[in-house]
Amino acid sequence: MELPNLKILEENDKRLRQISKPVTFPLSASDQKTINDMLVYLQMSQIDEEREKYNLRAGWGMSAVQLGIMKRYFVIAEEKEDKTFKNYIVINPEIVSYSEELIYVGEGEGCLSVNRDVKGIVPRYARMTVKAQDMNGKEITLRVREDVSIAFQHEIDHLNGILFVDRIDPKNPYKNQEKMREI
Ligand code: NI
Repeated sequence: MELPNLKILEENDKRLRQISKPVTFPLSASDQKTINDMLVYLQMSQIDEEREKYNLRAGWGMSAVQLGIMKRYFVIAEEKEDKTFKNYIVINPEIVSYSEELIYVGEGEGCLSVNRDVKGIVPRYARMTVKAQDMNGKEITLRVREDVSIAFQHEIDHLNGILFVDRIDPKNPYKNQEKMREI
């Protein structure tokens, strides 16, 4: 595999704090290529050999805004136990419902745009139903749970100019921990 040449914005870049715009269809050739490149990059970042070869940080989600493209889409490459990937391509997402139960990543969330360790809890819905569009503009409904639900919320935040670090109270990073389930 060849590593796509992606320039991922760093935390201090102001574009990461802006709200991305709805995507119109048909999807441009350039957006189609970006979606493909992002998925290849994320998969390679999760394959030990490739990650070491290219000195990558592992990630399984990426939003267009992280490449400076201010459009409402993101992808997720979820590695399964058999080492295959389940790819999600999510365009113009809307959360239609979510669980009362909250969860958080015990070891802390990570982001390819945040190149430092950040301690603390990011409360996330354990389950969600999301409406979105696929690459053809067709409406899709996705039901997500656990780590995939967290990844979706992390990426939807990106589309709204929010980084996970913004959701951690620096004065009390483990606030309300007892009200949530660790995953
Ligand atoms: Ni991120």
